[in-house]
Amino acid sequence: MLPLRASLACRRLPRRLSAPPLEAFNTSRRLSTLSADHTPAPEFDLAAIRSELAVEHEHSAGSECRWDDASAPWHWLDREMSSNMAGETGAVCIYDGAAAALSLRGTASAETLRFVDEHRAAERRHLELIECLLPPHKHTRLLPMWRAAGFALGFAPALVSDRALFKTVEAVETFVEEHYGEQIGPLKVHGRCPQLVALLEHCCADEARAGNERYVEREDNDL
Ligand SMILES: [Fe+2]
Ligand SMILES: [Fe+2]
Repeated sequence: MLPLRASLACRRLPRRLSAPPLEAFNTSRRLSTLSADHTPAPEFDLAAIRSELAVEHEHSAGSECRWDDASAPWHWLDREMSSNMAGETGAVCIYDGAAAALSLRGTASAETLRFVDEHRAAERRHLELIECLLPPHKHTRLLPMWRAAGFALGFAPALVSDRALFKTVEAVETFVEEHYGEQIGPLKVHGRCPQLVALLEHCCADEARAGNERYVEREDNDL
């Protein structure tokens, strides 16, 4: 939800690919996820994706400072990934807020309750993936603000009606799809970070799937 936009100037994309070692991370760790409809998702090699990010940094900042060094400058993909983490944090909190409001209201349909539970779980998996990729010093300091804003954004419409919640979430997910698309498109055009692209496409597909489900439910319930 509501990630910060950042332009992807093609001139910032790297020209060479050679991943430096990343001893700072547990390179054996892999995560797999389930999409919201419980379809098994691909397993992602997070160490390989971090290497892709390091290559982007090396091209942008040179080889003097490592990507995972706290003093290293942020490059364009760092900003994008940090905004992805902020967005996924906010997304989890949207569903936290919605669940709290639905519980308080007590009149939500079973489908709405199921929807909130399933998509909160999907957003948590997205957040876990993104969080594992970024060194702690590349996590935005604004996460508390994103949590508060996300919770309020989910809580308020859910307190009003199922329809208000679905309309809010649909608008947010449409924005998220566009945001991921702004990263996926240039990376694919330039043949960069293929494994990161696969992860972003997986997250983006979950957002699109959630949007379609919301639409069907709105029609079925004549919301
Ligand atoms: Fe997400
Ligand atoms: Fe989402």
